[in-house]
Amino acid sequence: LTPVVETDVLIVGSGPAGATAAALLSTYGIPNVVLNKYPGVSNTPRAHITNQRGVEVLRDLGLEGEVVKNATPQHLMGEHVYATSLAGRELGRLRTWYTHPHFKAEHDLASPCSVCDLPQHVLEPILVNAAASRGSSVRFNTELLTFTQDDDGVTALVRDRLTGQEYGIRSKYLIGADGGNSTVAAQAGLPLVGKMGLGGSINVVFEADLTRFVEHRPGDMYWFVQPGVGHDGNGIGVLRMVRPWTKWIGVWGYDVNAGHPSLTEEDGVRIAHQLIGDDQVPVKIESISTWAVNDVYATDNMAGRVICVGDAVHRHSPMNGLGSNTSIQDSYNLCWKLAMVLRGEAAPTLLDSYRDERLPVAKQIVQRAKRSDGLMPQIFMALRLPPASGAQELHDALDALLQPTAEGGRLRQEFDTALQNTIMGFNTHGVETNQHYTSAAIVPDGTPEQPAPRDEEIYYFASTRPGRHLPHVWLTRDQRRVSTFDLCGRGRFTLLTGINGAAWREAAERVAKRLGVPIRAWSIGRGCDYEDGYGDYRTLSEVAEDGVLLVRPDHMVAWRSASAVDDPEAALGAVFGQILGRT
Ligand code: FDA
Repeated sequence: LTPVVETDVLIVGSGPAGATAAALLSTYGIPNVVLNKYPGVSNTPRAHITNQRGVEVLRDLGLEGEVVKNATPQHLMGEHVYATSLAGRELGRLRTWYTHPHFKAEHDLASPCSVCDLPQHVLEPILVNAAASRGSSVRFNTELLTFTQDDDGVTALVRDRLTGQEYGIRSKYLIGADGGNSTVAAQAGLPLVGKMGLGGSINVVFEADLTRFVEHRPGDMYWFVQPGVGHDGNGIGVLRMVRPWTKWIGVWGYDVNAGHPSLTEEDGVRIAHQLIGDDQVPVKIESISTWAVNDVYATDNMAGRVICVGDAVHRHSPMNGLGSNTSIQDSYNLCWKLAMVLRGEAAPTLLDSYRDERLPVAKQIVQRAKRSDGLMPQIFMALRLPPASGAQELHDALDALLQPTAEGGRLRQEFDTALQNTIMGFNTHGVETNQHYTSAAIVPDGTPEQPAPRDEEIYYFASTRPGRHLPHVWLTRDQRRVSTFDLCGRGRFTLLTGINGAAWREAAERVAKRLGVPIRAWSIGRGCDYEDGYGDYRTLSEVAEDGVLLVRPDHMVAWRSASAVDDPEAALGAVFGQILGRT
């Protein structure tokens, strides 16, 4: 096969993972080609929740403004109502996505960015436009068929689906961002554990003005206990906001073992009306599609020059909204490493840290989503109902909740507890923000791992111990607020020191020159490049004014020194030597 196209990186897939990789690589100046076998970006909403770590990547790409303009903001996301239908009886409420005042403070302290609701068909064009305008060659209607790799690169056979023409693309690396049925992961022989096709869901996307039902209790999901709704017969159906308050997805379950349902527009209208609980509301069906819940993660995510990101290596239920966010962050972890290897600044061994750092995250988020999925059926169990109970049984059980008796009291307590426990399907701030790494691209500073003071799945834990995410602190410059995150990123290592850290800065300059690797350096404190106006950096940095934090391009702390050392150049040189695999 004689390749007709040559590039540094071939990216298969332009979903959240692939489009992020393309946008990052083009921003870093690395030539890349992106394939998507379909004619365009996702034409259905699919994933919505863009969490703080997801938005931070988009902020680093300079795209946060567009995200905020196009997304539904946090304050319209949080009232998750459980009811018999949208027009029906309310059974309880949650305050999700950190809108509860207690969590709102935790949320706001952790990041300059806010969680938002950005449907995938809106997110993807933002990323693909950025990638294309910064240099990516984006090829729609182009499908990867097979690939082979050798010591120097990868040769892919692709097909133009419009003409049927097949041709070869030669690249130095191949990123498999081809989603839940990944050809790349399968052909690379990446081992997967878990189960596919656990529960079937029907997504009915429709237009309907539901303002009068929701504007006084704004949320991005409304949950309904109805007979026959919800996969696995767990009886929970969902109305999911796409655009407030006129575009929606009705989510309805089907039995995967009974085969693929074939659904008409009338079925779609019936589903929408049943969830709304009012069949007089005008409904315009846009699309009906099905999807299955998976519970799968890969135990390896790379084979030689072929590296997989996103759903290709982790597939799970939408609970906790971790799908596209984890996919975006896989690419954020990988792309600066690829850029440095391709520029000859780092040895290829740097790429092994992608495996060591992201495999534990894939396993963690799949297991979290699975546990969250298991919370929903408990609402039914609290009603003493079998999984596939009928309308009359459900009606009787809900009536029993209203009985002013001791048994009614026990039922109410169990039901309310089960309902409130589902908060763990939405508010797991720690799962999102505490992802941390142990690998050769993190240099220990000799301090022991500190136990988190609170539940690490629920609460963010700020720490600058190497391998942790740099804490967000508001600093000031020219009287304006700037986040510590804005001092870092954009593909470069950053050194942060204090008022008497000049020796670190000089050392960084010499190390950068010797290795040919750009390192930016800032001082933080009174009279420095950035002022610690609020005084938070002093405590959160966990280093003295003559100490240093070395931050990787993906905002992770690579190394730190609590105070000055005798030979800062030797210290920094050794740290970069280890991370970049250079002697
Ligand atoms: P993604 O699947 O988005 O992208 C894969 C890309 O690869 C596509 O561009 C595809 O065309 C391309 N491709 C595949 N094979 C190819 C080949 N051989 N050659 C060329 N291109 C190829 N998650 C969530 O958190 N909340 C939710 O509500 C939902 N809802 C939802 C509904 C439906 C219907 C689906 C299918 C999925 C969800 N998800 C979800 C999951 C979420 O969409 C998912 O986690 C992310 O899209 C993952 O992003 P990726 O980029 O990894 O894969």
